[in-house]
Amino acid sequence: MAGSEIGDGLPKQPLIDFDHYRQHSLSESDRAWREVRRACPVAWTDANGGHWVISSYQAVASAFKDWETFSSARTDPEVSSLSVGNLKIPPLYPEELDPPEWHPLRRILSELLSPGAVQRLQPRITHWVTHYIDQVIESGRCDMTEDIACPIPAAVSLELLGFPQSDWERMSNAFHGTGSYDRSTPEFAQALADVAWVGARVREELSERVREPRDDAMSFIVSHDVEGHQIARADAEAVVLLVIGGGVDTTTSLTSSALVYLGRHPELRAPLLDDPSILDSGTEEFLRMYPPARTHARIAVRDIELGGCHISAGDRVLLSEVSACHDERAFPDADRFIIDRFPNRHVAFGLGIHRCPGSHLARAQFKEIMRQVLQRMPDYRVEQEQIVEYPNWSSIGGWAKIPATFSPGGRLL
Ligand code: HEM
Repeated sequence: MAGSEIGDGLPKQPLIDFDHYRQHSLSESDRAWREVRRACPVAWTDANGGHWVISSYQAVASAFKDWETFSSARTDPEVSSLSVGNLKIPPLYPEELDPPEWHPLRRILSELLSPGAVQRLQPRITHWVTHYIDQVIESGRCDMTEDIACPIPAAVSLELLGFPQSDWERMSNAFHGTGSYDRSTPEFAQALADVAWVGARVREELSERVREPRDDAMSFIVSHDVEGHQIARADAEAVVLLVIGGGVDTTTSLTSSALVYLGRHPELRAPLLDDPSILDSGTEEFLRMYPPARTHARIAVRDIELGGCHISAGDRVLLSEVSACHDERAFPDADRFIIDRFPNRHVAFGLGIHRCPGSHLARAQFKEIMRQVLQRMPDYRVEQEQIVEYPNWSSIGGWAKIPATFSPGGRLL
């Protein structure tokens, strides 16, 4: 939609000095968001080409729900619309689409990742959690990110899609690496190059599924009808890529945050293991305290007033899930982890039409990992001085390395 006359030329204020790429640690990120949320919940920054920063629960929730104003579509075909910055990754659908194009592709994923489908996947989730813990259980030491939090969500979603096991590690590293390596490092450049390799592998595998369908999610996606026609191949590719990208490092991040927290608070392990309702409420509280997807970007396509500010058509907007989740006006004692917090209407999975369709799968994997880690490594001890954070908490945060020791146990498979 073309820019409206109403907002053109209006000063963008209040102006703040804020760059979310300057958040190099969890504590820096939490502090920066707290300050900006308390000072001005909707504000403009000139950082990264200029954009609005939306930090209160109320404003974030209302922008997430208002897809008619806040578009998710790409304006630059080269550059991802999901984050403010210059990350060049191939299109990811349906997340980077607005209705009406968004509808049919979202329908595919809602079916593929429904609660019933996740229930049917539970034996595979249990299998992969058991398998990866088996790999380290006899040694009494592991890296809880590299050995557990990273490979398990990758195995579950890549097996579901139908990729051969030989691809899993490189695919998971491609997406994990773009979050867990500093953008100036050769490792980050390699991870971005690997994202392109993942794109090529997706194209190859989809061609094979067209020739010879199998009983897997890639066959389901590529054979799907969209408005009476078979889905366009490019759209199928963008959906598969998003299931990989959305499915892999987010659950990894949540798991790593919980394992570090429980490393510091061992008294919470028994209640989580013994009482399924505490595991349920604890899972939501980990999501609220440590939302893996910290921010998402939008573009305003019409003028609107939000939080007393005038946002003009064409302005870029950064919505902060993490700030909304820590907003004291929405969550009493917001910076405290309360294992049985109720109500807990966090926005870690977003809100509105793009709300995460993978939430059921994410929760099922996270809970199975917690159950088995707490059962099989009940005395695990994190080497706190050796843990390594993601270098930047702008769009995804987490722990790149969590060295730990525990009493050795026996394999189960
Ligand atoms: C703890 C784990 C996860 C978190 C915190 C998370 C978070 C989110 C958020 C915040 C959104 C909304 C994005 C927006 O509004 O632009 C989203 C969308 C999405 N997520 Fe997740 N996600 C997780 C796990 C997963 C998993 C396991 C999958 C798939 C296997 C998945 C697939 C998707 C897809 C396809 C979308 C786009 C939906 C749409 O545009 O309609 N996510 N996720």
